[in-house]
Amino acid sequence: MSSFEQEIDKRRTFAIISHPDAGKTTLTEKLLLFGGAIHVAGAVKSNKIRKTATSDWMEIERQRGISVATSVMGFQYGDYKINILDTPGHEDFAEDTFRTLTAVDSVIIVIDSAKGVEKQTRRLMEVCRMRHTPVIVFINKLDREGRDAFELLDEVEEELGIHVCPMSWPIGMGERFQGVYNLFSQELCLFKSDKQHVSDDIHSIKDISTPEVEGYIGKASADQLRNELELVQGVYPEFSSEEYLSGLLAPVFFGSALNNFGIRELLDCFVRIAPSPQPTEAEERIVEPREEPFSGFVFKIHANMDPNHRSCIAFVKVCSGRFERNKYYRHIRLDKQFRFSSPTAFMAQKKEIVDDAYAGDIVGLPDTGNFKIGDTLTEGESLHFRGLPSFSPELFQYIENADPMKQKQLIKGVDQLMGEGVAQLFINQFNGRRIIGTVGQLQFEVIKYRLLHEYGAECRWEPIHLYKACWIESSDAAVLANFKKRKAQYMAYDREGRDVFLADSGYVLQMAQQDFPEIKFHFTSEF
Ligand code: G4P
Repeated sequence: MSSFEQEIDKRRTFAIISHPDAGKTTLTEKLLLFGGAIHVAGAVKSNKIRKTATSDWMEIERQRGISVATSVMGFQYGDYKINILDTPGHEDFAEDTFRTLTAVDSVIIVIDSAKGVEKQTRRLMEVCRMRHTPVIVFINKLDREGRDAFELLDEVEEELGIHVCPMSWPIGMGERFQGVYNLFSQELCLFKSDKQHVSDDIHSIKDISTPEVEGYIGKASADQLRNELELVQGVYPEFSSEEYLSGLLAPVFFGSALNNFGIRELLDCFVRIAPSPQPTEAEERIVEPREEPFSGFVFKIHANMDPNHRSCIAFVKVCSGRFERNKYYRHIRLDKQFRFSSPTAFMAQKKEIVDDAYAGDIVGLPDTGNFKIGDTLTEGESLHFRGLPSFSPELFQYIENADPMKQKQLIKGVDQLMGEGVAQLFINQFNGRRIIGTVGQLQFEVIKYRLLHEYGAECRWEPIHLYKACWIESSDAAVLANFKKRKAQYMAYDREGRDVFLADSGYVLQMAQQDFPEIKFHFTSEF
């Protein structure tokens, strides 16, 4: 294998996802601790925009700044180069998370052992399933009283629609938590609470029936463990790399992120089984990571905190080859050549200018408005990467200009914010009014605030009652024309000028689907 191929092979790019409060931030931090990227716990001030309800905008702004730093965390672990992509915890930013998932090769899902599978986890898992992303499940907070392990696994299988394969097994929980038996490495790992350091108390036990086990955890626990493991072996399939890599089987680990317990096992297994950079689907063809010419796409744009400099960082996932500083690349949508003198990457918590990056890596490109989410960069070939769908928003409002002198600024601001993926813009075909659709109330505040502070434009929201936006298409042009005529007041264009039907109730949508069977109604922009 050439050194170029080795570089790519050793990369592991993934995201940690969870329902807020399950322990994503804590786990991220502990992984960095193991990777030597930080030295004390508490160094990662999460990007949590979560405990804030809706109106504490300054707090959000402050956290937004922090989240630039934690957007991508790269570190070296043994022979591996690990890239963790951070995802916002607040569900109003779910769309952001969906897009981040398009840039990773695998995912770790954190579940709170007392709460089991929660709403946000289910939604995120749907995206993983759509993309066949391999997932590992980490059941957290074993140091607290939680639910029975078998019951949790059943729930994961049912609610997340994936088979599970326990890689470790808990011994007690809460006050009685003694540790886990690692089925993958056949080791007994005894629990010691230590929030700051990594403490290992690990014993190789190939045969669980050996009396040695009693010595460590007592007779009652040893008996229970043996019984449970017997059941585990009878009920769950053996680990199959193939099934895991196709997104059909999720290995499960148990531990306590806060106490540094079970993290090393998770990480050691992760680097071994998790996929190296995977092929990316472009409209034209499948792009292999080991192809030499560089290609990549923008999956996230981060606006500058300083309103006087309207610069952003565009986060580019390198899909193939090697990205080099100061080399000219083609921006496909604009059909223009760009070169970047200060691409950045985050290594070991430090943002630094990098000379190159390989497939699997993320580079941050300083930008002054040239990039939009989904833009592709290549060495020349015309490629358009797919897989960045917009989902039908759930909340809608008319956006009106509140300062007639600033119409231009408003249009520009809205255009750029939509390009960043903050929300979606629809233009009513009947009256030309602009409608903003979001997944959470918070975005309306974000937009208003940022329009004022970054573009000097003032907007006003006016209510509109809508249920869903769906992209419509039909092979029968006459039917489509008829539908558009009948629903003229409810037809809009999206940013790309595509037809979108704005249904004002579930009933109306159902009737439309019934009356026009020749028309396809899509709930994501990519179909
Ligand atoms: P999130 O990013 O998924 O939203 O979760 P986060 O890591 O912030 O964890 C949420 C809460 O759960 C935090 O407590 C954290 O300390 C706690 N936690 C995480 N892992 C464990 C664990 O293994 N055991 C126990 N007992 N608690 C855990 P908090 O009080 O909300 O915040 P903090 O004041 O501790 O930061």
